[in-house]
Amino acid sequence: MNANKEEDIKSTPEHIAIIMDGNGRWAAKRGLPRNLGHREGAETLRKIVKESGSLGVRFLTVYAFSTENWSRPAEEVGALTGLISEYVKKYLNTFVKNNIKVKVIGDLSKMDPKTFGYVSDLIAKTENNTGLTFTIAWNYGGRSEIVNATKRIAADVLAGKIDPEAIDDKLFSDYLYTAGLPDPDLIIRTSGELRTSNFLIWQGAYSEYYVTDVLWPDFDRKELLAAIGSYGNRKRRFGGL
Ligand code: FPP
Repeated sequence: MNANKEEDIKSTPEHIAIIMDGNGRWAAKRGLPRNLGHREGAETLRKIVKESGSLGVRFLTVYAFSTENWSRPAEEVGALTGLISEYVKKYLNTFVKNNIKVKVIGDLSKMDPKTFGYVSDLIAKTENNTGLTFTIAWNYGGRSEIVNATKRIAADVLAGKIDPEAIDDKLFSDYLYTAGLPDPDLIIRTSGELRTSNFLIWQGAYSEYYVTDVLWPDFDRKELLAAIGSYGNRKRRFGGL
């Protein structure tokens, strides 16, 4: 049974991660350009961040732009990066008002300086907030994150800072972009696709997955409650009995 009301929730995940898929199909269904689907998706995101915080979720991480998204047509890449810049500015008031702390993970070396400025501002102005930690994965790919961590660990081994015998799951996690964040308890994917798409592949080793056919721009509080309700009904075993 899925929970449709807050009082039906058995346990709230501490960390939810979301693959926000289906913006393009949402637009196509309405005869609109794909960019408008992404724009609607950004509006949905603002609402879901607020809802998550009010439901007691402590961490929310979203896949906003993947390392593979650069291969989309230049016009769409431009629209998506422009949207991030615009919305990061627009989100500021909502996040400050709602005690939300913002982080950004991924390879930010490819972010244009103007967007990087807005992102840095949003991070700095929300740094001391104590509510939900909202993490935007931008130019993020799980494999490149692991490769990047491995290179840095190898350099620290060569520099004599780490004994190879000391490398364990915990140390490895500390070299990932997500260092300091707990692993996601629940990973939600919208629009019905059954793949991880290179999102949090290390961190998601024992995450519960929830896939809905709803397209991301249509995802709302009711859908979020259904996902959390499904999570609350599962028995997490982490490989044990
Ligand atoms: C996948 O839908 C979605 C994306 C590649 C972008 C997600 C971005 C947003 C929701 C908005 C911006 C985010 C921020 C942080 C402002 P798709 O284009 O693959 O959809 P389709 O599979 O239906 O074509």
